[in-house]
Amino acid sequence: MRIAVFAGDGIGPEVTREAVRVLKALNLPGLELVEGDVGGAAWRKHGHPLPPQTLEIARSAGAILFGAVGDFECDRLERHLRPEQAILGLRKELGLFANLRPAKMFAGMEDTSALRPEVAGAIDLLIIRELNGDVYFGEKGIRTLPDGRRQGWDMMSYAEDEVRRIAHVGFKAAQGRRGLLCSVDKANVLETSQLWRDVVIEVSAEYPDVTLSHMYVDNAAMQLVRNPGQFDVIVTGNLFGDILSDQASMCVGSIGLLASAALAETSFGLYEPIHGSAPDIAGKGLANPMATILSAAMLLRHSFGAEAPAARIEAAVAKALADGIRGGDLGGSHSTSAIGDAVLARL
Ligand code: NAD
Ligand code: IPM
Ligand code: MN
Repeated sequence: MRIAVFAGDGIGPEVTREAVRVLKALNLPGLELVEGDVGGAAWRKHGHPLPPQTLEIARSAGAILFGAVGDFECDRLERHLRPEQAILGLRKELGLFANLRPAKMFAGMEDTSALRPEVAGAIDLLIIRELNGDVYFGEKGIRTLPDGRRQGWDMMSYAEDEVRRIAHVGFKAAQGRRGLLCSVDKANVLETSQLWRDVVIEVSAEYPDVTLSHMYVDNAAMQLVRNPGQFDVIVTGNLFGDILSDQASMCVGSIGLLASAALAETSFGLYEPIHGSAPDIAGKGLANPMATILSAAMLLRHSFGAEAPAARIEAAVAKALADGIRGGDLGGSHSTSAIGDAVLARL
């Protein structure tokens, strides 16, 4: 059970520390943690946000626990040197194409949602976000037009095999849940989305037991706050999935609660909170580590088949929340380490 731990920037090290404490407390046989540098921290030390030695550590491990990258001091660097390239590079280099971002209301937490409690109570959805394609990885640049104006451009595209493999992940996930798959696109405007929709419909023939629906992304954003309980599994592209998952987090209560898995075709995966490095609160003990702790649970389940310890972590987090343990993001005053302590005490 060799796990690469890439803490990164800002609150990344703070929240990762708590998740590592939880992993160690489980006394898992064969557990081995190997740290590596990513993001702005890696750029300062090695001149690159994803140095070769970090990639090597990743490849030698069965899974990656990732904190966050992002450092405003690096925002004027050439794009390939920016901290975010660490996470984008790992996703692409390691074929981590399927991003699972579950959002479920915790018992007794309805009052912390940005939605009315009776609306928020019904949230139990899974966003499946394609992670290796879309406008993220197309050609891009800033060029000067013949008339002297500067123009920024980013190429959006999806090849049919890329859509097909994420569609299969979506249908299979729906089979294991309530049997509803909603594919979110912008097919009324984008050709990329038209192909996406056509391919998802083709794949649906193999899953007669799953009810497929389609929704435009603007409507999906509205429906997520109007009636989030209608969603079971959402499958969508890289950009739309990024935006909708941050939105879903506030429906549950905080971005500090949502975990994620980025999976390859094998059991290998990268696990991280959906939030970023939160420079506005970094170094102050204000970050909620629960999203990272829950990501560690997903890691044990998906990459190592360790269901029992994964469920133990999730139950401990749910119990801590039910007992009133709240970070500042949830209107409380528990520090990052106090939240870690509270989860450990309930394991
Ligand atoms: P962010 O998610 O870092 O922060 C958004 C807001 O949520 C901030 O007010 C922050 O304080 C709060 N927040 C986030 N996580 C929290 C937690 N665990 N507990 C309490 N509050 C929390 O998004 P941003 O401010 O747009 O981006 C900051 C940097 O992070 C940027 O450089 C961005 O590129 C990067 N980023 C990285 C990742 C990643 O590593 N996967 C994800 C998102 C953003
Ligand atoms: C996320 C982040 C990343 C993304 C950034 C930091 C590249 O927002 O993991 O959600 O856009 O995928
Ligand atoms: Mn994001």
